[in-house]
Amino acid sequence: MNISSLMAKVFAGIALILLTYGFIIPSVSFNGTLERIKDNKVENIPSYVYPIWNFYQKGKYIGINTQKEARGNLKKMIEISEEIGVPSLPIWNFSLEAPNYPKEAFPYGLPVYIHFDGLSGEVHEMNTINHYVGMASMERGGVYESFLAPYALIFLAMLFMLFIIYDNKWVNRFMVIPVLLPFIFLGIYSYWLYWFGHNLHAGAITIKPFTPVILGDGKVAQFTTHAYPVVGFWVLLAISIFSLIAWWLKSKSLKKQPSKKATPLQHYIFIITLLVGIGVSAHVLKTDIEVDTLGKISTLINSSKVKPLTITETSNSTKEQKEAILKERENQRIEQETKIKSLENRAGSVGKFKVSTMYKSNCAPCHGASGEGNIGPKLVELNKDELTKKTLNLKASEDEMHIAVFEYLSDTDMKELVEEIATFKDQ
Ligand code: HEC
Repeated sequence: MNISSLMAKVFAGIALILLTYGFIIPSVSFNGTLERIKDNKVENIPSYVYPIWNFYQKGKYIGINTQKEARGNLKKMIEISEEIGVPSLPIWNFSLEAPNYPKEAFPYGLPVYIHFDGLSGEVHEMNTINHYVGMASMERGGVYESFLAPYALIFLAMLFMLFIIYDNKWVNRFMVIPVLLPFIFLGIYSYWLYWFGHNLHAGAITIKPFTPVILGDGKVAQFTTHAYPVVGFWVLLAISIFSLIAWWLKSKSLKKQPSKKATPLQHYIFIITLLVGIGVSAHVLKTDIEVDTLGKISTLINSSKVKPLTITETSNSTKEQKEAILKERENQRIEQETKIKSLENRAGSVGKFKVSTMYKSNCAPCHGASGEGNIGPKLVELNKDELTKKTLNLKASEDEMHIAVFEYLSDTDMKELVEEIATFKDQ
């Protein structure tokens, strides 16, 4: 073996270690854990998951509401039903800044981290916002990709092993996959961003289809968005560079010294590696079957299908079809009610305060159940004249946040609403 070939193996080895440490260990071990928590089957979580999650959580984003003793402690996090993210290295960060997330309380804005195998950060809060603008919940993005991630990562590790074990031109070409890895990620990520911005359903407000920014700062409605690569992406880039160097060194050495026939020892090592790879994949598969990952994915996809708000009935539709339509409507109504309920709860003033249904369903989602402000600013302190002037201005300027609600309201409706809101401060 010459020096270039040896160096090639060292570089491939470093790339393999980075891949294993940053992605394979956390994603393989954590696979199925979130599903088990959701299904109330915490007892089925293998004990090794806890120290691994706790270890990988060090130095990561922690929800601002998370209790001190629960930070970096998966057991505690589950006990207090905290939002739990996947432990693999986060690759991309997407965050929002908005008036209702003040810098003092939200120094990182409202961040969500994208991983190969899932998400972490303020996913729940972000989903609530996505819901307002009619965007699907974040988990919907890359469902199959994150399901396949552990398998793909194991496969990639096998390719590295193949490269390290054999000196062969043909095996060399596989290096193109790890070299392209960061770009494959970016491609899939961009596709999903496009998908999210172009599969909008009727939310509390309607926005025009758009593609969220992939890198840098942008604006969606009144939110400032930031999107940047984080640690996982730099590790991917390092893996890519090391793989490229390894590939180049190996090609150079093969040119000088064409490959010899592989020895039985090489085959022997490869068979062991293969068995380990198959074993680990089988373990992931067993977990996926047990927690019914595919079933959960199809439920998620069905629940986030873009639903037309009115379903046209034709005269020749059968009884079952009619029943299905009625059921669908009822579901939509319940969904709408639950949405409003949860928003009221968030605003924390159910019962005490009486507001009209018109206010509740049109303005409360953003201005709070009693006008105290939520995503939109406080309205309580404005008097009737200010309210009239401001609403008229918003209407005239076709303000993005209001165009959808104002469209459905007549001038009399608007007048009544303004009169109602003006009484809020006395209640
Ligand atoms: C989707 C969220 C959303 C909905 C729904 C909404 N607003 Fe707003 N509203 C905002 C935001 C955000 C602002 C801040 C200005 C902006 O960025 O458009 C605002 C500002 C206002 C203001 C000006 C407040 C000020 O102090 O300058 C008024 C008045 C107002 N909204 C009235 C209403 C009324 C009345 C309704 C219901 C018919 C309504 N809004 C529904 C989000 C919303």
